[in-house]
Amino acid sequence: MQKTKIAPSLLAADFGNLQRDVEMVNNSVADWHHIDVMDGVFVPNISYGMPVIKAIQGHATKPLDVHLMIIDPDRYIGTFAELGATVLTVHYEACTHLHRTVQAIKAAGMKAGVALNPHTNISLLEDTISDLDLVLIMSVNPGFGGQSFIENTYEKIKALKELIQRKNASALIEIDGGVSTENAKKLTDAGADVLVAGSFVFKSEKPLQTILELKSVADGK
Ligand code: DX5
Ligand code: ZN
Repeated sequence: MQKTKIAPSLLAADFGNLQRDVEMVNNSVADWHHIDVMDGVFVPNISYGMPVIKAIQGHATKPLDVHLMIIDPDRYIGTFAELGATVLTVHYEACTHLHRTVQAIKAAGMKAGVALNPHTNISLLEDTISDLDLVLIMSVNPGFGGQSFIENTYEKIKALKELIQRKNASALIEIDGGVSTENAKKLTDAGADVLVAGSFVFKSEKPLQTILELKSVADGK
C-alpha cells in the first residue's frame, strides 16, 4: 500500500487567519506544511518572507517543507535552518553551483531538495541525484497558485523514477502545481511520493475533509 505524503501549500491560505489555517493543517492527515517563498525576480510574484515564516513556525506542528523560488538561495540557507525548515528546496535554474548549494543545505542540518521548472529536463540531475533527499517537479510554471496542471508531468515523473532506481538513489519525488483528486492517483502511479496542494485544499469548503480525500485517492483507497 502506498503512503503518499500530502503537503498543503499555505500560499492559498487566508493570510488574515493564518494561525487558524496552520492549525487546520496540524489537525489534518497532512504530512508537511508547504511554504512557498517568492522574490519577485526568479518568479514574477512576491509571497512572504522571514517574519511570516517565523509566525507560521510558531504554530506549525508538522515539518516545514520550504520551496524557495528565489535567485541566489545560498544567502539564506542559515536563516532557513534557524527558522526550523526540515526540507529546503532550491530551484535548479537559480543555482550556478548546485552541488555546493546542496551540500550547504545538508551541512546546515536540513534535507536538500531541488525543484525543476516545467522546461527543465530530468537528465540534468544525473550527477546530483544521489546527493538529494527530494526532487520537486513543477507541474505549473512557478509563481502563482491556482494554475492548470501540465500533462507532460507524468512523463517527467517516470523519467525521474527511472533515474533514481538506476542510480540506487533515495530522493523523494514531490509534485507541485494544479494537484487535486482528479490527478492524484495518476501521479502516485507514475511514482510521486509527495503531493503539494494549495487551491484545491484551501479554496474547498471543508479543507480537513479535502486533505483526507486527497490522501485516500493518492493511496488508491
Ligand atoms: C507555485 C507554488 C505552489 C502553489 C501551488 O509556484 O510553488 O506550491 O502554491 O498551488 P496550487 O495547488 O493552487 O496549484
Ligand atoms: Zn511550492
